[in-house]
Amino acid sequence: MTKRRLDVTIGNVNEVYDGAGGILWEMLMGEQIHVGAESETDLLARKAGVGAEAHLLDVCSALGGPARYLARNYDCRVTGLDATQQMHAEAIRRTAEAGLSAKLDFVLGNALDMPFPASTFDVVWGQDAWCYITDKQRLIEECARVLKPGGMLAFTDWLEKGPMTDEEWTALNAFMVFPYMETLEGYATLAEEAGLAVVEKEDLSPDFAEHIQMYLDQVQHQFRQAIVENYGQEMYDAVERGITLWRDASAAGKVGRGRVIARK
Ligand SMILES: C[S@@+](CC[C@H](N)C(=O)[O-])C[C@H]1O[C@@H](n2cnc3c(N)ncnc32)[C@H](O)[C@@H]1O
Repeated sequence: MTKRRLDVTIGNVNEVYDGAGGILWEMLMGEQIHVGAESETDLLARKAGVGAEAHLLDVCSALGGPARYLARNYDCRVTGLDATQQMHAEAIRRTAEAGLSAKLDFVLGNALDMPFPASTFDVVWGQDAWCYITDKQRLIEECARVLKPGGMLAFTDWLEKGPMTDEEWTALNAFMVFPYMETLEGYATLAEEAGLAVVEKEDLSPDFAEHIQMYLDQVQHQFRQAIVENYGQEMYDAVERGITLWRDASAAGKVGRGRVIARK
């Protein structure tokens, strides 16, 4: 079934992460721009069986925070793929500064057309980013293609959950600049259709709702002044309104987050 989509292009996503969006999300989440920070990366790494021999592909690697953390703590090799110039350049700069350039490389490119040969990686990885991608079926097919046989697909993402009005659906996706979100079941089906065996799928939505409430509290109490000073009152109001919308929808079980582990 074709899912409804907002008319969001990769150019729109680049505008977010080349501009204030990347900075604001780093303010709230840290340089690992996903819910749960390091502990979530450790959990995903354990579930994917990441070890010193692994070559991992981080699809939508942003600032390279998880890539550096994985190289430091699991001694693996990581390739980061991201489509936004500012994120790509910053990932390279921070990695050189951390002295980790021998273990990591960053490639500027689109997850829907990965510039890698088939059967290249032991682990294909994603954290809270694939919600930006305009064609999840093609994305999962690309992930399956570049995985070695026996390799693991491991990712978390923001998800569509309960029923909502068209108005809510549009406002939630438009604020985040998501074309649409997948469901947990939808991702599992896409993985199976791409020839992968789903090992585990987990609904993390209650934890997600708590995090969104925490981000809203931070915006209102810790970062309000900095956002107003740097980006203006209008931007602050839009951010507060958008995160409030997400807080309400996550508390009502309409949106959430999940984790999928699958083997090729
Ligand atoms: C929320 S951030 C990712 C955070 C990162 N996974 C982490 O945990 O630190 C979203 C990233 O996805 C990237 N992105 C979105 N669509 C993409 C695509 N089609 N191909 C490659 N990168 C994309 C954006 O450029 C942005 O850097």
